[in-house]
Amino acid sequence: MLQDTIKQKLEEIKILKASTKEELEKIRIEYLGKKGLINDLFAQFKELPNEQKKDVGAILNELKNSIQQKIESLREAMAQKQEESKPKEDLTKPADLLSLGSIHPLTTVRKEIIDIFSHLGYTVAEGPEIEDDWHVFSALNFPPEHPARDMQDTFFVENREDQNNILLRTHTSSVQVRTMEHTQPPIRIIAPGRVFRNEAISARAHCIFHQVEGLYIDKGVSFADLKQTLLYFVKEMFGAGTQIRLRPSYFPFTEPSAEMDISCTICGGKGCNICKHTGWLEILGCGMVDPNVLKASGIDPDVYSGFAFGMGVERIAMLKYDVKDLRQYFENDVRFLNQFASTI
Ligand code: DAH
Repeated sequence: MLQDTIKQKLEEIKILKASTKEELEKIRIEYLGKKGLINDLFAQFKELPNEQKKDVGAILNELKNSIQQKIESLREAMAQKQEESKPKEDLTKPADLLSLGSIHPLTTVRKEIIDIFSHLGYTVAEGPEIEDDWHVFSALNFPPEHPARDMQDTFFVENREDQNNILLRTHTSSVQVRTMEHTQPPIRIIAPGRVFRNEAISARAHCIFHQVEGLYIDKGVSFADLKQTLLYFVKEMFGAGTQIRLRPSYFPFTEPSAEMDISCTICGGKGCNICKHTGWLEILGCGMVDPNVLKASGIDPDVYSGFAFGMGVERIAMLKYDVKDLRQYFENDVRFLNQFASTI
């Protein structure tokens, strides 16, 4: 009798067991497969006389549902067992280190420079990166035919009929002019910022880099003040034992002008590859602001005097962190940047 077979099967499936996926699959095929028991029973069911169909149909459907549920519960039991047999998390294990990302070395050095000069009463001034000829060259006493104005050095944005061409600033000295134009002395500013020059990119040169310009204008400012200010800066930046040396030089906007070297941060002055065996490293240009520059910016050179200096941030960071290739500052290679990262 079909009905008895179904009842018997209903009992039988209660005790079904499977401990592997393969065993479970075998059960599924045996009962629910195309040629499986359920399809077979349904085929037999079709042959039944109509009056029996109602009762038998009910238990046959019950059997079908039960086997589906049974297989599902076996599958869940198996998954749970698997989960339990996994090795337990070691709760005494120290937590993973949290990576904080890093501050770019140029940002760090820029901040250090600002901090040192702020102790001397300097405040930060800024000017536009897209400038005009007046603020980058003319007001800074560059003669009309000066080679720095040349296409080879300067990125021009727009040529103007009045010759006051629009260009990307080639140095932050332009901020001197902008500050003096709207401020009367005493003036004590540093101007950090990006500058642009039309240079072929190499380990030692880039078309984008950063400078910090310094300017101090007041009554009776002397070259001795300049020297003492720079000495203070260098000792703060590179350590108390660092020495400086000023060499006469030329810039259109300062008179007299000098370039400043520091005793080599690597060998301490004995001579090494970094300082090319001279014991000295050049780090900035400086001088007394030329009276023509004061005049052009609206400050009376008979009353006031002052000094200015300008340094490259990349250069200082290279010396501090022993970076040998300037391009690394701009490539955003995380292997480079990670060296400046901290963890907690
Ligand atoms: N502007 C110069 C440069 O880009 C650096 C410089 C030299 C700035 C002497 C100054 C200075 O203020 O007095 O190379």
